[in-house]
Amino acid sequence: MVRTLASSASPLPDFTQITDKVQRGNYAQLNDKDVVHFEQLLGKNHVLTEDLDAYNICFQKRIRGNSKLVLKPGSTDEVAAILRHCNERRLAVVPQGGNTGLVGGSVPICDEIVLSLQRLNKVLSVDEVTGIAIVEAGCILENFDQRARDVGLTVPLDLGAKASCHIGGNVSTNAGGVRVVRYGNLHGSVLGVEAVLASGQVLDLMSNFKKDNTGYHMKHLFIGSEGTLGVVTKLSMLCPHASKSVNVAFIGLNSFDDVLKTFVSAKRNLGEILSSCELIDHLAFDNALDHYKFLKSPITGYPFYMLIETSGSNATHDEEKINQFISDGMERGEIIDGTVTGDPGKVQEIWKIREMVPLALIEKSFCFKYDISLPLRDFYGIVDVLRERCGPLATIVCGYGHLGDSNLHLNVSCEHFNEDIYKRVEPFVYEYTSQLKGSISAEHGIGFLKKNYLHYSKNPIAIDWMRDMKKMFDPNAILNPYKMLN
Ligand code: FAD
Ligand code: MLT
Ligand code: ZN
Repeated sequence: MVRTLASSASPLPDFTQITDKVQRGNYAQLNDKDVVHFEQLLGKNHVLTEDLDAYNICFQKRIRGNSKLVLKPGSTDEVAAILRHCNERRLAVVPQGGNTGLVGGSVPICDEIVLSLQRLNKVLSVDEVTGIAIVEAGCILENFDQRARDVGLTVPLDLGAKASCHIGGNVSTNAGGVRVVRYGNLHGSVLGVEAVLASGQVLDLMSNFKKDNTGYHMKHLFIGSEGTLGVVTKLSMLCPHASKSVNVAFIGLNSFDDVLKTFVSAKRNLGEILSSCELIDHLAFDNALDHYKFLKSPITGYPFYMLIETSGSNATHDEEKINQFISDGMERGEIIDGTVTGDPGKVQEIWKIREMVPLALIEKSFCFKYDISLPLRDFYGIVDVLRERCGPLATIVCGYGHLGDSNLHLNVSCEHFNEDIYKRVEPFVYEYTSQLKGSISAEHGIGFLKKNYLHYSKNPIAIDWMRDMKKMFDPNAILNPYKMLN
């Protein structure tokens, strides 16, 4: 696969269908009658045929489609009517949330119609007694969390893209983020979903209970299926109580061995109040601080940094625990320096460093991004191996991520897309991960960029079953083609 990013003369990447020699599927061509049909259905304002770059180009500006039509339905019925028409006409469709996905899953590859969930953005209810919220799929995660916080709850999911990503996109990718160590992933928090199938049928799998063993748990099929089985329009989510006391420790360490010891100590000693455990290596850290001068770090100059957060209900008890944890770690020589704060402004400042790490890499230059699960003892070794393999060809080879979930974000930066580096890192990273029985996609999904590598983490029989399920849900393969399955 050859993939180029925008040349310096043009801010736009080349069309992916051309760079990657993608054979267009046997779909109908959109015509004027289709557009008129959609205009009658949604109203002219919600049918876009011009200025579509923002919908055609992925967040990393790496994948570019050539859609001529963006549809913005305002209700589940409208989503159903759109899909019914597309299915009858054999028009391909890509569901799109906030377009923050990092595997090229949310944009067209050829000329698929973009079905944007932007207008389905309401929080329908938040019940402070049950903790259950009902929300439309296009609601921005941060807005949803604010509504939950208004009644003392919080959404059990937090990630750097929260100001743009949609809760429906989060569910469709089974997004992880920085609180999985505390709340688990969305398969546990999502109680029910409403999804529209390719045929236009509305599948109501909404549930208001944690316990519901009435047959197959079909909702799980829509959590992480990346818009290939149906369009999620609504969901119910179990929201925990927002913690009264939040503390963050930001610490510097000399070796990965010390990182592991500190993680074990955090689990043992912070136990029930531990709510996040993130790692940043010095190259990722330095790059972020260099790129964003507004970032303020309390410490600098260490090979590794850990951000450890506690969330509890008793400020005195929680502070005592985290301070003890730090001083014990320092006494043992595992933690070299660090700071602990419960001041909300300072807590945010520290989180900002972690959140800006991926953006600094993406904004600065071209970045090959890998999102893998590895056994903890082998978590960081691959970063050193890859650094060696790429040598001076790469500008930065760094690692950071959700240490508490064994999820490493491995990044290789270079000025522009570089075929030489590409060949050195792929499929090497996937082979390496597979040999350690890791996952080649821990939280971002498969999308377009990883579909050729699915077999490194799924056996052929499982992949055949995935294909059969896809055929059953979407016999004409109109939903998000060219993604996930080859
Ligand atoms: P999109 O990017 O629009 O779509 C993603 C996929 O879901 C596509 O395949 C699309 O077709 C499908 N889809 C979207 N909405 C629907 C729907 N309603 N029904 C059916 N299919 C749909 N991810 C993590 O897991 N953890 C992180 O910590 C994290 N941090 C990030 C930080 C930054 C700075 C950025 C840019 C991204 C990060 N991501 C992270 C990746 C991304 O934000 C998540 O994958 C997110 O869940 C995508 O949501 P979205 O609304 O932007 O979906
Ligand atoms: C993160 O944890 O920062 C995100 O998943 C984005 C990334 O992998 O860079
Ligand atoms: Zn992540």
